[in-house]
Amino acid sequence: MGVGLLGTGHYVPTNVVSNKDLEKIVDTNDEWIRTRTGIEERRIADDNIDTSDMAFYAAQNALKEANVKAEDLDMILVATVTPDTPFPSVANTLQDRLGAGKIASMDVSAACAGFMYGVITAKQFIETSAYEKILVVGTEKLSKITDWTDRNTCVLFGDGAGAAVVGPVSEGKGILSFELGSDGSGGKDLYQSKETDYIFMNGREVFKFAVRQMPESSVNVVEKAGYQKEDVDYLIPHQANIRIMEAARERLGIAEDKMATSVKKYGNTSSASIPIALSEGVKSGKIKDNDLLVLVGFGGGLTWGAVALHW
Ligand code: ACO
Repeated sequence: MGVGLLGTGHYVPTNVVSNKDLEKIVDTNDEWIRTRTGIEERRIADDNIDTSDMAFYAAQNALKEANVKAEDLDMILVATVTPDTPFPSVANTLQDRLGAGKIASMDVSAACAGFMYGVITAKQFIETSAYEKILVVGTEKLSKITDWTDRNTCVLFGDGAGAAVVGPVSEGKGILSFELGSDGSGGKDLYQSKETDYIFMNGREVFKFAVRQMPESSVNVVEKAGYQKEDVDYLIPHQANIRIMEAARERLGIAEDKMATSVKKYGNTSSASIPIALSEGVKSGKIKDNDLLVLVGFGGGLTWGAVALHW
């Protein structure tokens, strides 16, 4: 038996905020944002939509695509750094709202690598036969911890949610290899400030870490899975910055159209970025049966995680 993703879903708020819109509130410009980050616009949730609402919509889509009923889930894992409240967890809220049974549910805190941590945690429960179907969600309302007067950070982030149902698949399909890691000494470079509650980021240090770690983890999981770099059919890197993503793509040596680039439309949605890009890739037909995929994320912590999988 393998462990794979049975279905994916995503939700993004309807409210589009363009780079031109940001020019009106901070000293920045469309050209700077595009060339330094690849971001053209992002979605920002209204006041009445919180992190768990977006998680709920994305989860409903994923359950539908997987053809799994909420009451048949065995566990819910939600990756987020922007829960509605520290407790109850978003996963607890989701358990009730989806109408799942009284199953285990908890949030996972690994910043932008959170979805990867969630999927790999789910895999362990399924491989040991403890559970069969686990909903994993990455959901963020980063706009509520963004300082809208700080041009260094406010141009980067957006809101959204992505989800996947993880479950058993036939042998040879699903997750082939994974890598997870963390380095707390880098926590000082990316964190939520105790004083202001806003995101603080040392952009240059995070950039240096990410351009090293993302390509390395991508290659590691491909090799662990017994494949060559050029065998990769589709790369889904954490959608933070196109230049960091390009470093991973170039290291694998794959063509431009083999990498998800939803960062253009949504900015950095932290733990939601990989499942959103994955769900879009499936729905658009870019990801096809048996494709070899690499999903790779990095984020505050510092944390990172990657998987190679057969779709
Ligand atoms: N508009 C215009 N100018 C700006 C802006 C802006 N929005 N932001 C910064 N600048 C200025 C800076 O002040 C600086 O000016 P100075 O030289 O006069 O001081 C200049 O632009 C260049 O700044 P750099 O930091 O050198 O720009 P860089 O090319 O490194 O790009 C960026 C900055 C985009 C933040 C980059 O460092 C980056 O992407 N880092 C990684 C960030 C990231 O991925 N974070 C998310 C991690 S995931 C998570 O867990 C949330």
